[in-house]
Amino acid sequence: MMKRIALCFAVFIKLCNCDLTEKPEWLKSCQFKDPDFTKCSTIGVQALFDNLVKGLEGIEGLQSIDPMRIDRVGILQGEGPVSVNASISKVKITGISKVKVIENQVSSKDYSWITIVKLPKMRLEGNYHMMGRILVIPLNGRGKCWFEPSNMDIKFYTKTRLYAKNDHTFYNVTGCRVHFNMEGLKLRMDNLFEGVKVLEDSTNLYLNENWRPVSEALKPIISKNIEEILLGIMSKIFHQIPGDFFISDLPKPNELKQAN
Ligand SMILES: *[C@@H]1O[C@H](CO)[C@@H](O)[C@H](O)[C@H]1NC(C)=O
Ligand SMILES: *[C@@H]1O[C@H](CO)[C@@H](O)[C@H](O)[C@H]1NC(C)=O
Repeated sequence: MMKRIALCFAVFIKLCNCDLTEKPEWLKSCQFKDPDFTKCSTIGVQALFDNLVKGLEGIEGLQSIDPMRIDRVGILQGEGPVSVNASISKVKITGISKVKVIENQVSSKDYSWITIVKLPKMRLEGNYHMMGRILVIPLNGRGKCWFEPSNMDIKFYTKTRLYAKNDHTFYNVTGCRVHFNMEGLKLRMDNLFEGVKVLEDSTNLYLNENWRPVSEALKPIISKNIEEILLGIMSKIFHQIPGDFFISDLPKPNELKQAN
């Protein structure tokens, strides 16, 4: 019995510690009933993003997003133009702070979001380890690598479910799909053939000259990695900032299921 009370108490404290109870200054509420709702929510998402870059005060468990550091990104794909078993470790991604939010639509029916953004420039670097083939080229090696896509147009499809907690309506971000295009890609993989320099240079040249089919081939892998990273970040944010801070005419907590 004591144990259970202690447990409830601990959970209660935790909720109280990590939810934002007051609306931050930068956060402007929108209303579905406003005819300019989409415009308002687009500005709202840009503000959220800009403040995420600075570091959201009072939100726990978030790391810097520019530079963003990831221990390891795994890549395993058996079929199609890319057949690789690879990983990139000690990943550092820079440039994300330059994201421009073009449009954010929120459905008043299922509370899903469609977010369109532009990312002018970003760079991913790390240590890769790779066995496989891209297009017709066999690639086996390990070493340093970097990738620089330019002018990315990215469209996020986010699924959410509303729930009630502490007299507020929260989003449970349950899924995220990403579609993107880019206008260019530069890349470099060092030590591609375990040190056969001539092959390494000519292969890097070939991959850069054929960046379009290379990026097309890598798309499913890149999308999946972005989706996982983004889902982690968004669920952390929206379990801590009430959804009704963003949209004040979301269904009221008493109309929703309670978080358990
Ligand atoms: C991929 O590579 C890792 C590390 O070399 C290895 O452990 C794993 O079995 C490989 N997976 C496949 C499906 O080849
Ligand atoms: C959020 O959704 C997930 C997956 O559907 C579920 O397991 C989890 O319990 C939900 N969390 C809350 C707080 O509703």
